[in-house]
Amino acid sequence: MKIEVGNTQLNVEDRGSGSVLLLIHGFPLNLEMWRPQIEDLSNHKRVIAVDLRGHGHSPPTPGSYSMDVLADDCAAVLAALRVEDPVTVCGLSMGGYVSFALFRRHPQLISALILSATRPGSDSDLAKANREKAIAETKQHGSQPVLDKMLKILLAPDTYESKPELVKNLAEIIALTSTKGILSALAGMKDRLDSTMLLGQINIPTLVIHGAQDQIITLNESESMASGVKNSRLEIIPVAGHLPNLEQPEMFNSIVSDFLASI
Ligand code: MLT
Repeated sequence: MKIEVGNTQLNVEDRGSGSVLLLIHGFPLNLEMWRPQIEDLSNHKRVIAVDLRGHGHSPPTPGSYSMDVLADDCAAVLAALRVEDPVTVCGLSMGGYVSFALFRRHPQLISALILSATRPGSDSDLAKANREKAIAETKQHGSQPVLDKMLKILLAPDTYESKPELVKNLAEIIALTSTKGILSALAGMKDRLDSTMLLGQINIPTLVIHGAQDQIITLNESESMASGVKNSRLEIIPVAGHLPNLEQPEMFNSIVSDFLASI
């Protein structure tokens, strides 16, 4: 379904009934990355998954997509769907950066947090320089170089060996990201705020999920993020990389279900 949000429309999937689990995808992905969660968890919850602007079937808009703009989009989606009670927000990687912005800007909307394969910190100088390089390359050659690079690091080394169908499916999912979407998301991530100080203010149940073979986020980063939040739990999924929800969907779903049942 398409939902009008400010100056654009966002593609949203809304399935199931009951209390809401809001799923926010990573870069350069879209809500299809949550297919195993939408199918399974919507049996017990209302699952709302959003294509962030410029991703999936949400058209690109001008300018950079700051994490604040993307968070406000998610808040507007909840309002448009007339969600009245606070929701559990599950953000993966860039979706985690958006979740921090959502907590900062609209804390009343959130009752619990699931942070997977993400970090609270802002980009280091090196990471900023790498974003600039990726932006320049994308301006010159289009989306393919960034998509090719991401396709090589999103999964665990073991997953590339054992799940060729998943690798193919992932290539199809990321191919939907427009060149403009890539440029704007890279610019937004490069300039995102440091949310490390926010961790101490998170006073709601929080689950951190880490893929043991993540090539982008280290275990140390997930551990220190979890230890910064008072009421948090850390779960490590073996034989999974940056997309544990796709690489080990049953384990991911069972960890999420247990967490949701506990709150
Ligand atoms: C993501 O998966 O969303 C990205 O790896 C995040 C990033 O580039 O910082």
